[in-house]
Amino acid sequence: MSETVRKPVLYSAVQPSGTLTIGNYIGALRNFVKLEKDYDCLFCMADLHALTVRQEPAALRRRTAELAALYIACGLDPEKNIIYAQSHVPMHAELAWILNCFTYMGELSRMTQFKDKSAKHADNINAGLFTYPVLMAADILLYQTDVVPVGADQKQHLEICRDIAERFNSVYGDVFKIPEPYIAKSAAARIMALNDPGSKMSKSGEPDSFISMADTPDDVRRKLRRAVTDSDGEIRVDPENKPGVTNLITICAAMSGKTAEEVCAELQGKGYGALKDATTEAVVSVLSPIQAEQKRILADKQYINDVLKNGSERASALAFRTLRKVYKKVGLYQL
Ligand code: TRP
Repeated sequence: MSETVRKPVLYSAVQPSGTLTIGNYIGALRNFVKLEKDYDCLFCMADLHALTVRQEPAALRRRTAELAALYIACGLDPEKNIIYAQSHVPMHAELAWILNCFTYMGELSRMTQFKDKSAKHADNINAGLFTYPVLMAADILLYQTDVVPVGADQKQHLEICRDIAERFNSVYGDVFKIPEPYIAKSAAARIMALNDPGSKMSKSGEPDSFISMADTPDDVRRKLRRAVTDSDGEIRVDPENKPGVTNLITICAAMSGKTAEEVCAELQGKGYGALKDATTEAVVSVLSPIQAEQKRILADKQYINDVLKNGSERASALAFRTLRKVYKKVGLYQL
């Protein structure tokens, strides 16, 4: 990423709180590689966000490195993109404080993710969980971001980010760029949970509902064998009546580079066992080389540290410009 010639800025962040799923890969990760030509991209490990639920410290640290290595293993060039950890750029927390003062309790209480998470973690409804969207707004706004690739579950958070930015701008002038959702040119395939094809595949779902990027071939085979199908035995795309089979076809096609029609034609009349075998093979053929590369990268701790250090320095330089402007605008005394 060049800090002088400005392409539109694309900002993406993932919490290092679990392992990404093949749904994240198919819907987002694999497409990011093609974006570095047209966008200045930042890929953030949102480790501060992860603290809104209890984390095992050693696991959080390990997953942060693993996520960075996964990005690189999937083909993201750490020279062309900024790959960094949120906690390494203190301006995120600093801007979040300012933005907290421009965010209403009422709008935060309407966030569906807050309602869901506080139901799920009833023993730990902390203030961080409540102000989570404000930190996310700070992430995005610090970099004068043009576009944010978001799934349906984060749409509401991008909306509130825009509202906060507009509110701030209406008082102080054009300080923040108003970010737009990034809509992929080719409609990204929606990957559903294996055991419940009516809901989205998620890393926070039940263990057998998703295939993680770290799953072994045996894990993949076992989970796909158990995947929900239906009883009519026909291999065809019909999201309405055959969501489980359609999901398998979608995964098989995405991971093998074939179209759904090709997958159906090849497997016609062979039954769901054959569909599951073909899907297993397609998934493993994508995961194996990525896992091998990720492992190779992780073994070189110095390299990972260099990438993260370089990323945080470049991110900090950009973030500092925005934060300095904000501090000045709101009237904090300048030295
Ligand atoms: N909240 C996002 C998620 O759980 C992660 C995230 C943090 C994020 N900061 C962001 C996403 C900024 C996009 C932009 O998926």
